[in-house]
Amino acid sequence: MKGDMVRDLQEKFFQIAAKEKRIIYRLFYLAYIIIFWVFVWGSLEIIRQTPNASFAYNLGVWSGRAAVTMLAVVLIPGILGRFGIQIKVTRVFTFYRRQLGITTFLLSFTHGMLVRIVARIALGWYPISRAPLFELFGSLALSLLFFLFITSNDWSVGRLGLWWKRLHRFVYVIVWLILFHTILQRVSVWSVMISAVAMLEVVSLIYSKY
Ligand code: HEM
Repeated sequence: MKGDMVRDLQEKFFQIAAKEKRIIYRLFYLAYIIIFWVFVWGSLEIIRQTPNASFAYNLGVWSGRAAVTMLAVVLIPGILGRFGIQIKVTRVFTFYRRQLGITTFLLSFTHGMLVRIVARIALGWYPISRAPLFELFGSLALSLLFFLFITSNDWSVGRLGLWWKRLHRFVYVIVWLILFHTILQRVSVWSVMISAVAMLEVVSLIYSKY
């Protein structure tokens, strides 16, 4: 009985996601605008050191957590696919892979900016010479994500051809960089989640080859 209900719900979710693409694309655009607005608003609060500055910092931390979650969502269908597991809900994520990837970059960018980069550039805080190693991993991950972000469009797919695929395989490197970025800080839900995804990614790749 409960199983039937879950299946019905999954089916409904799947059908809405498949049929209402235009509405869902618009919702993604709205999310991009909100994230960008958080970046601009938060940066100004931090630069001006208003009473909202620590709230802006917290929004930055949560953007990083949301980015890690998004990345896991983007990668799970591929992992399950390599293990030969087909779940309708994860196929929905595949429909919107590009939009989820763009959201991941925008969240990561807002995160990096609000927790360090804006204060570093505008206020001279957190000097780069004293930046801990975990930040280097985060910065590398963000730099690589940037290239995936700017090539997440039909024009780039057409122009780059096979190179587009090669470039987007860097997502496997990015996962490991984020793993080190988070685990070098502390063991948390976020570091454990990305570690599980990174390990499963490797195991599923080996599994699919043999
Ligand atoms: C792909 C890019 C990135 C992702 C997905 C990411 C994700 C995360 C996550 C999940 C946390 C842990 C939050 C927690 O333990 O609760 C974190 C913390 C942190 N990240 Fe990133 N990060 C990225 C890039 C960066 C960059 C570029 C910087 C700065 C240059 C940065 C600086 C920090 C700092 C300072 C913290 C500690 C924040 C605090 O607890 O006060 N991150 N990041």
